[in-house]
Amino acid sequence: MAKVAAEKEVKIVTTHVLQDMKFRGEKISMLTAYDYSLAKIIDDAGIDVILVGDSASNVMAGHKTTLPITLDHMIYHASSVVRAVKRALVVVDLPFGTYQGNSKEALKSTIRIMKESGAHAVKLEGGIEVKESVERILSAGVPVMGHLGLTPQSIYKFGTYVVRAKEEEEANTLLSDARILDEAGCFATVLEKIPAILAKKVTDNVSIPTIGIGAGGDVDGQVLVLHDLLGITKEFQPRFLRRYMTLYDDIKSAVGLYINDIKGKDFPNKKEQY
Ligand code: KIV
Repeated sequence: MAKVAAEKEVKIVTTHVLQDMKFRGEKISMLTAYDYSLAKIIDDAGIDVILVGDSASNVMAGHKTTLPITLDHMIYHASSVVRAVKRALVVVDLPFGTYQGNSKEALKSTIRIMKESGAHAVKLEGGIEVKESVERILSAGVPVMGHLGLTPQSIYKFGTYVVRAKEEEEANTLLSDARILDEAGCFATVLEKIPAILAKKVTDNVSIPTIGIGAGGDVDGQVLVLHDLLGITKEFQPRFLRRYMTLYDDIKSAVGLYINDIKGKDFPNKKEQY
């Protein structure tokens, strides 16, 4: 029985599978990962999409924003994730400064990511201002995911991490940007921290899947930062975050026990030596 399960063919997730999921009303699950070990666990658990997010800048490197992370860093994280994944679609964030305002640069950065990491798609932030980049990347045959609403690479323009597009003008711009990304050929778009009612309107008005984070339930899928879901990050407590574990506390207690065992000369014991 176990052998049969082990031999069961893995049905890989492609952008077409995601489109079909939207069509059938099956919700898409997406999580971030930045390393081999955790990527392997979430892929084995059956996650549909793994995002090698530039949130690695915060989570892995301890920066305050996503701006400092480089293309080389992203490629390092992405290639570690790709080595672990058998089923999920792996999407990699184009980091700040590698695509804005220059579609040729956007394609160059994308080609480096695709060649050097083996990932399946890229993600970039913005609407009409990145249309040309989206089209140029697509012309090279690389699938592109959009990202609208709270776009962390523009944090110094926004000034804060509060909910975006609450006012009518910004909501209309966001809807128009979503249509532009759809028409330009993006295969999906992330909607971050916007009112649920607007996220539903966008979802009903575009043909591509919408993946929400802090955008309510009427979207085609959900994404969270894995370290937030696991409770490894402690201070970050937005309303939209559901924590499934309290790993910060659990890891801290385990390390405390280990230290005590060493100090008390209990570790290693006779059975734990050669
Ligand atoms: O970098 C990231 O983790 C993201 C998600 C929050 C969507 O862009």
